[in-house]
Amino acid sequence: MDALNLTVALTGASGAVFCQELLRALEADDRVAHVHFVPSENSLRVIAEELGVSGRSGLLEKLLCAAPAKTVQHSNSEIGAAIASGSYPSNGMIVLPCSMGTLAAIANGLADSLIARAADVTLKERRPLLLCVRETPFNRIHLRNMTLAAEAGAVIFPVIPAFYNRPIDSTEMARQFVNRVLAHIGLPQPGAYVWKAEE
Ligand SMILES: Cc1cc2nc3c(=O)[nH]c(=O)nc-3n(C[C@H](O)[C@H](O)[C@H](O)COP(=O)(O)O)c2cc1C
Repeated sequence: MDALNLTVALTGASGAVFCQELLRALEADDRVAHVHFVPSENSLRVIAEELGVSGRSGLLEKLLCAAPAKTVQHSNSEIGAAIASGSYPSNGMIVLPCSMGTLAAIANGLADSLIARAADVTLKERRPLLLCVRETPFNRIHLRNMTLAAEAGAVIFPVIPAFYNRPIDSTEMARQFVNRVLAHIGLPQPGAYVWKAEE
């Protein structure tokens, strides 16, 4: 298998720690060559609230607690980035967490930001697009937009962590959710919890 090029978008829904764990897992995974990271403007507000990390500059270093080796950050307004074109050999895109606003933009093909455009391209090229939606409760617009996106080829992969692995903290909970996300795109992780029923 050739090393993968993946896009990770972080939007202003709750659950920034899930994206932080995803970025860390991808940095550590030798099967991944390049990660294109796009935080939305509004995600910065949520990151500050939830992780105590503020500002756009040096964001990756703060999230990874190290200098990135393979991850590059793009502004959400940078619509000329490589991932905005279907000619770039991307292997898929994960939006984690995915706000209802970004879900609406993607489901309706607005393509008015780098995140929405890269998702639009991912769908038109029939590549994997995972929308890790987060909101509760859902209104009918959210439900309709999830159906629209799923009909266009996206996988609705809600941020619903598992408890049967008995996570000791939110980091472990996020890491196990990320393990499920990565297994879904063909990157099973060492140490991932796998349910085994009692004999
Ligand atoms: C602390 C905080 C938590 C939020 N949590 C959610 C959420 O879980 N789901 C959601 O759809 N929006 C949530 N929002 C609202 C979004 O940030 C807002 O709708 C924003 O416009 C989304 O923009 P984006 O999709 O470009 O990131 C939250 C906002 C704040 C400040």
